[in-house]
Amino acid sequence: MALEDPSWKIFFEENPMPIGFHENVNLIKEFCQQAAMKKNRVALVTSGGTTVPLEQNTVRFIDNFSAGTRGSSSAEYFLEAGYQVIFLHRSKSLEPYFRHLVGKNIFEMIEVSPDNVAVGKKHQLELGKLAEKYQRHRCDLLMISFSTLSDYLWLLQATAQQMQILGPLALLYLAAAVSDFYIPASQMPCHKIQSSGGPLSLSLQLVPKMLAPLVTLWAPNAFIVSFKLETNETLLETKSNEALLKYHHHVVIGNLLNSRKVHVVLVDSNSPNAEEIRLSSSDLENGIEIEFKIVENLKIRHDQYYADHKTG
Ligand code: PMT
Repeated sequence: MALEDPSWKIFFEENPMPIGFHENVNLIKEFCQQAAMKKNRVALVTSGGTTVPLEQNTVRFIDNFSAGTRGSSSAEYFLEAGYQVIFLHRSKSLEPYFRHLVGKNIFEMIEVSPDNVAVGKKHQLELGKLAEKYQRHRCDLLMISFSTLSDYLWLLQATAQQMQILGPLALLYLAAAVSDFYIPASQMPCHKIQSSGGPLSLSLQLVPKMLAPLVTLWAPNAFIVSFKLETNETLLETKSNEALLKYHHHVVIGNLLNSRKVHVVLVDSNSPNAEEIRLSSSDLENGIEIEFKIVENLKIRHDQYYADHKTG
């Protein structure tokens, strides 16, 4: 399908690569080469929403809903599960480990005396545990950021291509919220749209579905997991199944906007029945996050995939 429909190629012809692209690709390349030498698994975790600018000198943009919770927490659990992680995330969205500090007042957490500055007693255990985890995993984590849809797609393509060297050791976990509509660079006004022009009508083009070339051309040997976001429960399983049938990848995780933190449906190309993951009240009381269970579940599926596809 990817080979028949050229719309994804046209997208890259019409939308320029992001600033710093080659530097980022070099970092990704080196990360993947090192991991491949050590036969380490690498998970690409995409996270956060993509923006669609309305002007070239951007004052206004359309955004896709996502705080980056799914991606940033999953990245931590992949690291705990022994993966190295490329975290392709929306700039200023939630990040692994740092997410636990969001909304906390750092000045309330430290004690200052004339000759010393230290973490206050009541925060030492929590911060100590977090710092220990961060320090243990930071060399296995590569952070790459994007803001716009176009930046995201350029980096997604390049990362998937660099991950080819890993063969079935690579896992792609596409949790970013990706816009389906955009304004091509050539149709975007250069300067700020003036309100003196009256009410604004926008005409947005469809973004080509990049899952098609991703699965067929960019990462043909990787284990690929995509997410399907819906707001209507009756569509969730059908739409997730349709995505799997259409793109021929490995797992689709369906989630509903309002229940995504406690319930997901996993549809797997190798099994006839969908599997549900739902947090119980005791999970919630014990602070278990659904991403812990998702990653645990995917690790088992990836183990099987690796066993079936490894060579030598
Ligand atoms: O970050 P949180 O606040 O925790 O929210 C997490 C989440 C709800 C954003 C996440 O769990 C999620 O569902 N992410 C996918 C959202 C999305 O883009 O869904 P979709 O149904 O519009 O797209 C389905 C798939 O097609 C996605 O894997 C996407 O990567 C892919 N896609 C989308 C657009 C496009 N042009 N090409 C694509 O390949």
